Amino acid sequence: VTYKCVTAILNQLPPEIAHDLSIKLLRTFPVKNVLANLDVSGLSQSLMGMDFIHPIGLAAGFDKQAEVFDQLGKLGFSFLEVGSVTPKPQFGNPRPRLFRLPKQQAIINRYGFNSKGLSYFAKHLQKYQHTCVVGVNLGKNKDSVNYCDDFLQSAEVLIENADYFTINLSSPNTPGLRELQHPEAIKPVIDGIAEISLRKEKKIPIFIKISPDMTIKQETTLAEFLLEQPITGIIISNTTVARNGVEGSRYANEQGGLSGQPLKTPSTEMLRRIYRIVSKRLMLIGCGGINSGQDAYEKLRAGADLLQIYTAFVYEGPLVIRKILLELKSLMARDGVTNIREVIGEK
Ligand SMILES: Cc1cc2nc3c(=O)[nH]c(=O)nc-3n(C[C@H](O)[C@H](O)[C@H](O)COP(=O)(O)O)c2cc1C
Repeated sequence: VTYKCVTAILNQLPPEIAHDLSIKLLRTFPVKNVLANLDVSGLSQSLMGMDFIHPIGLAAGFDKQAEVFDQLGKLGFSFLEVGSVTPKPQFGNPRPRLFRLPKQQAIINRYGFNSKGLSYFAKHLQKYQHTCVVGVNLGKNKDSVNYCDDFLQSAEVLIENADYFTINLSSPNTPGLRELQHPEAIKPVIDGIAEISLRKEKKIPIFIKISPDMTIKQETTLAEFLLEQPITGIIISNTTVARNGVEGSRYANEQGGLSGQPLKTPSTEMLRRIYRIVSKRLMLIGCGGINSGQDAYEKLRAGADLLQIYTAFVYEGPLVIRKILLELKSLMARDGVTNIREVIGEK
């Protein structure tokens, strides 16, 4: 059976069932690497001591419980972000909480961090091989008393088995979370992880994942603050609560975060603005609506060092990685560029 077939069948099923089934399939069957016979040498980078064979990683929220990251690495992603994990298990929001908008190549989700909790997550993260860079996305419980303790509790347990941490303050589905996207609220989390890192004698890159729904003023304040912090980079961006580009769709009025094609332009513009502030001093990961080599090329030119996808992977399946890389290579060839580093931040 080909990836195309399986993806087509999964997309006929109710969305959350399809997602759970895709995790089961990945756990059960051996996977075939979609990069076979693809020369990725001009696309490889070594950043912060991590090797990325090409720029495309899987965004957080697909492998929420760290159950299939070794298979996802074998499939062809160059890096994966597992989670978001919360310290205590929690169900998340009631179903239905995941909606497909196929005409707009978009998804609305309001999972609200359904998580089997830290100890389940940690057991899996230890058990499997890391076939590529594996970052851990940290979330907080809905009913946590002190958000900072939530992040630090997970960081403490997971640091040995994570290649990087992402502090996620940008999911729209946990009440109050996005209001923590300001310097005074973020600082204790960064400092706390830095302390754990020092004590455990393991250097760990830290990323902050941000929301595309901030005002330009908030965004500027945040970027200028982050520039002075002991962090590695920023992930731009999480999903949006805006509904531009999906007006009139059956699910447009469902609450939650919108991802996919309608998020592409706003998240790329935000990336470009933030790149101008932090230039080459922080790493940037571009995420939001990438579904072609052209989309990838635009984010790289806007200043992204690396890219993440989620929605395009849902609609197109694993082969989308190969498609994007092939198109990206031909765009680079068209412009006479041989190494990806020459593309980053060029426009
Ligand atoms: C179903 C679903 C679940 C998600 N869960 C998380 C999550 O747990 N943590 C997180 O930081 N981002 C989560 N995201 C956001 C993605 O990581 C990504 O930032 C966003 O979807 C934009 O990328 P895309 O347009 O390629 O999908 C989720 C997205 C989707 C569609």
